[in-house]
Amino acid sequence: MALFPNHASWSLRRRLTVTVAGLLVGASILVGLVSVLSLRSFLIDRLDAQLQSAVGRSQAAVDGHDDRDKDNQGPNHAQDALLAPGQAAGTLVIVNNPGGAVTAAVLGNGGGTYIPPSVLGTPPAVKDNRPFDLHTARLGDFRALQVRALTGDTLIVALPTTEVDAATQQLLLVILLVTALGLGVTIIAGRYLIRFELKPLERVAATAQAVATLPLDRGEVSLAERVAPEDTDPRTEVGRVGLAVNTMLDHVGDALTARQASEEKVRQFVADASHELRTPLASIRGYSELTRRSGEKLSEPMTHALSRIESEAIRMTALVEDLLLLARLDEGRELVHGEVDLTRVVIDCVADAQVSGPDHTWKLHLPDEAVSIAGDQARLHQVLANLLANARIHTPAGSMVDVTLVREGAQVQIKVRDNGPGIPAAQRRTIFERFTRGDSSRTRATGSTGLGLAIVQAVVQSHGGKVSVASKKGRTEFVVSLPA
Ligand SMILES: Nc1ncnc2c1ncn2[C@@H]1O[C@H](COP(=O)(O)OP(=O)(O)O)[C@@H](O)[C@H]1O
Ligand SMILES: [Mg+2]
Repeated sequence: MALFPNHASWSLRRRLTVTVAGLLVGASILVGLVSVLSLRSFLIDRLDAQLQSAVGRSQAAVDGHDDRDKDNQGPNHAQDALLAPGQAAGTLVIVNNPGGAVTAAVLGNGGGTYIPPSVLGTPPAVKDNRPFDLHTARLGDFRALQVRALTGDTLIVALPTTEVDAATQQLLLVILLVTALGLGVTIIAGRYLIRFELKPLERVAATAQAVATLPLDRGEVSLAERVAPEDTDPRTEVGRVGLAVNTMLDHVGDALTARQASEEKVRQFVADASHELRTPLASIRGYSELTRRSGEKLSEPMTHALSRIESEAIRMTALVEDLLLLARLDEGRELVHGEVDLTRVVIDCVADAQVSGPDHTWKLHLPDEAVSIAGDQARLHQVLANLLANARIHTPAGSMVDVTLVREGAQVQIKVRDNGPGIPAAQRRTIFERFTRGDSSRTRATGSTGLGLAIVQAVVQSHGGKVSVASKKGRTEFVVSLPA
């Protein structure tokens, strides 16, 4: 069971502070209660002893004057009892004579004062010679003792408990003040000390947080972040956490390195394979072309077969080139940096597209002044060529394609918009991934590889830019943003 079930969100610091403060209050209450009760019982015992002697004096005084005032017993007996030498101020004496008359008097500094018995209320039924508490409405509280005089009178002598009450109240007050002070000091010092003690834990958390923000999903990751050695002492709880975090980071680092190595191997393999395939493909293309043009009379099916071999070889060459380019872009090389006149690139690409796609209407919007950025001219040319080829291949004849180059603040944007059939939402999500394509036999026949947009994204990203697509029926727009 949790200690603070309703405060699950409390920080450890707050929990510890509240726990310590609670324990302190509990201990203070216990100590205070025991001290006050034992002080009171000690003082009452002492008062009872004083009471014994006071009663002895009073009794002697009453017994000694027994013969004299037979007629007027009550008041005088009370006075005798009260004015017995040695009696302290504040002493209360009550005399009940056998006839039922009650006389009561209290000793002041200047002598005794009679008080009407009604002030005392009904006297409690008590046993002789046993001290008891006497509460009066107007005179306050007393400790009293009842004895019997030789005259037959019942004599009650009482001493005020004022001093006992004052002493216990004083002690209570002191304990309360000390507890309050202790509580304040505990909370303030406790918060500080706990914060201080929790520092190592916070440092471990900070390390974990720093690692959590690292992009670990791709590329070469240097996992240099570690919990400092002073926070990895296995003898402490925090040290064990720190040690566990470091061990985990070691494992994760090893795993990431292994992953990186295997990714590199695959990439290298793809690059090598594509590279090796170029030459035989060129041969196939060359020989089929040579045979077709040799002038020999070939049968109709033969000619068809040769032209198929040739066109498939061309398609495969394109695929292999794309694969090789992607593998090299993944490796982070292949880009040649220089000053690129984007306006020129856009004009060239649209001109090329116009030649390849005479069935489409091509529109071009350029800013007034020339736009140039730092980058790889050939690759940027390829980005735009791929987008324009898509706009040509994946839209019906007669569609309109609109290319816009704009400069927006620190960004240069190339927008390629067409009014074709659009891209289904399901496909749009993965459109920049490799080998994603709308599978119609028409696109396959026209040399579709599904790598075009993957190359667009890889090139744009290696230029520090990004590419996005928005599409609905009759309006598809690709936007390439590059840092100016
Ligand atoms: N402008 C466009 N209009 C409609 N569909 C498009 C457009 N551009 C791309 N697509 C879809 O995205 C797919 C992926 O494009 P891409 O990566 O260039 O591969 P490819 O063109 O070789 O098929 C295409 O097969 C096509 O279905
Ligand atoms: Mg394409």
